[in-house]
Amino acid sequence: MSTARNTFLLLSCFFLIVAVSTAFTDFNFYPKFKNCHDAENIVRDVVEGYVKKDPGLGAGLIRMFFHDCFVRGCDASILLDKYDNTDTEKFAIPNNPSLRGFEVIDAAKEKLEKEYPGVVSCADIIAFAARDAAYFLSKGKISYNIPSGRLDGRISIKDEVLPALPAPFHNLTEQKVLYEAKGISTAEMVALLGAHSIGRSHCSSFTSRLYPTIDPTMDPGFASNLKNKCPDPKNKPVDGVVVQDFLTPDKLDNEYYDNVKALKSLFFSDWSLLTSDETRELVTEFSEKPEFFAEKFAEAMIKLGNIEVKTGTQGEIRKSCRVVNYPTTTAPPPPANVPTTRAPPPPANVPTTMAPPPPYPTY
Ligand code: HEM
Ligand SMILES: *[C@@H]1O[C@H](CO)[C@@H](O)[C@H](O)[C@H]1NC(C)=O
Repeated sequence: MSTARNTFLLLSCFFLIVAVSTAFTDFNFYPKFKNCHDAENIVRDVVEGYVKKDPGLGAGLIRMFFHDCFVRGCDASILLDKYDNTDTEKFAIPNNPSLRGFEVIDAAKEKLEKEYPGVVSCADIIAFAARDAAYFLSKGKISYNIPSGRLDGRISIKDEVLPALPAPFHNLTEQKVLYEAKGISTAEMVALLGAHSIGRSHCSSFTSRLYPTIDPTMDPGFASNLKNKCPDPKNKPVDGVVVQDFLTPDKLDNEYYDNVKALKSLFFSDWSLLTSDETRELVTEFSEKPEFFAEKFAEAMIKLGNIEVKTGTQGEIRKSCRVVNYPTTTAPPPPANVPTTRAPPPPANVPTTMAPPPPYPTY
């Protein structure tokens, strides 16, 4: 191969990235770079490796995408660790301790930073990873391209999570209001809930439907099985976990809708899809047409990924997905040579623990 051609490839790959760096909503935002590896393929390979070892991580990544996008938009605010001693989104009740898959994002980011430092945002990595998890867990039946070019946010606040996310005890109206606030239609909401065909739940999200008496909105046989796995929290404080779909727990298919119709879904919020004509008919349609479900799920995931996306000066591309590029969100970056983390260490020889008592006076 001629050197001229290599140089051309190198340059063309480079320019493609630079030219579109403030855009969003285009597919193939990170087409090729340097040696022309594809950024999206790097994420896909990492996700495949983890999901093969533990399919539950794939479920975690899909849920992470949802929880990221519903709070401050799809800006990777869900990934920020505690800073300035303040709890971030990942410490809120819906995320802690149940949200999983953070190590997959870290691994993908590390690989990308090695190949293309400062180019691929954490927000896009989440969107790609959720898409790839859906692909592997559906055995390739759910397959779609998703636009990219999201920037990473610089703010993450624990208290914003609970009011923004639907809860397992919410009725249909309460759920619809929260999705409408994010521009997601009722039909898209029902399609997204098909994700409850994979992964797990902690018992605490549904034991109120089992104790003191079994909720009539639950199949009695299903409920008594659950009672074996999830004892009355009054007697046993340990919060166990059960799978969401008892037939194919690691397969992203339309089984969820059969479960809802049979009153064999875990949450009151799942059952409540049967309480309106519109949502009940969608449940039936998705349960009868697996390809239709796969198509609508993909469309709804793309829509989810468009929520309140940051571009231009609204965000940045983090170096590490767990911290903003410099530590405070209000102050300008500190001058060089000033430590950017917490307080500087105390000078040597000054004791950091309590001073020893003065010698006892002797007379
Ligand atoms: C009304 C809306 C929703 C409610 C109330 C809800 C609630 C929950 C709860 C309580 C869990 C159990 C978490 C645990 O204890 O480990 C869960 C798991 C899960 N949810 Fe949702 N969810 C909703 C919508 C969605 C949507 C829109 C998606 C994705 C598109 C989604 C994806 C998942 C997945 C994949 C899991 C399994 C996670 C794992 O195994 O780690 N959920 N959900
Ligand atoms: C749903 O919950 C809200 C808030 O608690 C309540 O006002 C509303 O009446 C409930 N709707 C139904 C259909 O139960």
